[in-house]
Amino acid sequence: MPDARPILKWVGGKGQLLDRLQPLFPLKFNRYIEPFAGAGAVFFRLYNLGLIGANPRLRAVPAVLNDFNGELMTVYQVVRDHLDELIDELARHQAHVTDPDYYYYIRNLDREPDFRQWPAPVRAARTIFLNKTGYNGLYRVNQSGYFNVPFGRYTHPNVLDQAVLKATQQALQRVDLMCSDFAQPLRLARKGDFIYVDPPYQPLSRTANFTAYTSRGFGWCEQERLAKWLARVARRGCYVLINNADTPQVRELYRSAFGEKGVLIRQQVFETTRNINSAPDARSGGRELTVWNY
Ligand SMILES: C[S@@+](CC[C@H](N)C(=O)[O-])C[C@H]1O[C@@H](n2cnc3c(N)ncnc32)[C@H](O)[C@@H]1O
Repeated sequence: MPDARPILKWVGGKGQLLDRLQPLFPLKFNRYIEPFAGAGAVFFRLYNLGLIGANPRLRAVPAVLNDFNGELMTVYQVVRDHLDELIDELARHQAHVTDPDYYYYIRNLDREPDFRQWPAPVRAARTIFLNKTGYNGLYRVNQSGYFNVPFGRYTHPNVLDQAVLKATQQALQRVDLMCSDFAQPLRLARKGDFIYVDPPYQPLSRTANFTAYTSRGFGWCEQERLAKWLARVARRGCYVLINNADTPQVRELYRSAFGEKGVLIRQQVFETTRNINSAPDARSGGRELTVWNY
């Protein structure tokens, strides 16, 4: 079986940072909590390392994955609990991956009034199909919450990779899935838990505000509310590891939130070659701040 890995492309995905984040993972912890799961790059790396999950070779450490995006969490739930139905649905989509009319037909199904009541495997297959065939794997919704990414024009997109789906299903066996605001999983955090936090980043310019993973957005008030929560759980004795854009405001936000609670803070900057938030003059690179408390 191949390694488990993200089955979706996700803006802000941490694939590129994983090797540099890995030395910062605590080696022993009680439970893993990820309040902004996205495609779960860190979760899958921890699983493949045997640090979490039902990996039979090593001890089993449970995990909680949360994201505000309901369609995304439905994908995780269906991969874990209804993989056969999902595979059947994806096989149907695979026959039409280069047809723009089919893409727009499937894309616009969320405009149907009872769409949220449709069977979960049908909705999950739609999300995977749109992710693999839509422009740049973006997940973007308009103000009404309707998916609005254009067709991607790929020549050979593969929406059905059975081996990876099966490995992913295995990785999700001991995982609690939640679809809430980040505060909800953080309420569950107890001493000794490891919390990896990768929120929508503070935009680097006023025009580059890619925060539309959900129709609600994620502004500076949300960044402040998050920093307060993280200082609180760090104080409780959790291992907290955070990524965000490297800006003076974000550095100061964590310095003061952690300082107020008397929590140790370490910060390090990693350079990357991609930055979805970047101002036009900073396209070639991004600076990602990493903050941790242990
Ligand atoms: C930067 S992405 C996470 C990327 C992820 N680490 C990966 O490797 O793919 C941020 C995620 O936060 C989610 N999100 C936005 N607002 C949220 C909120 N208030 N509570 C929980 N999740 C939220 C978005 O749906 C998005 O998936």
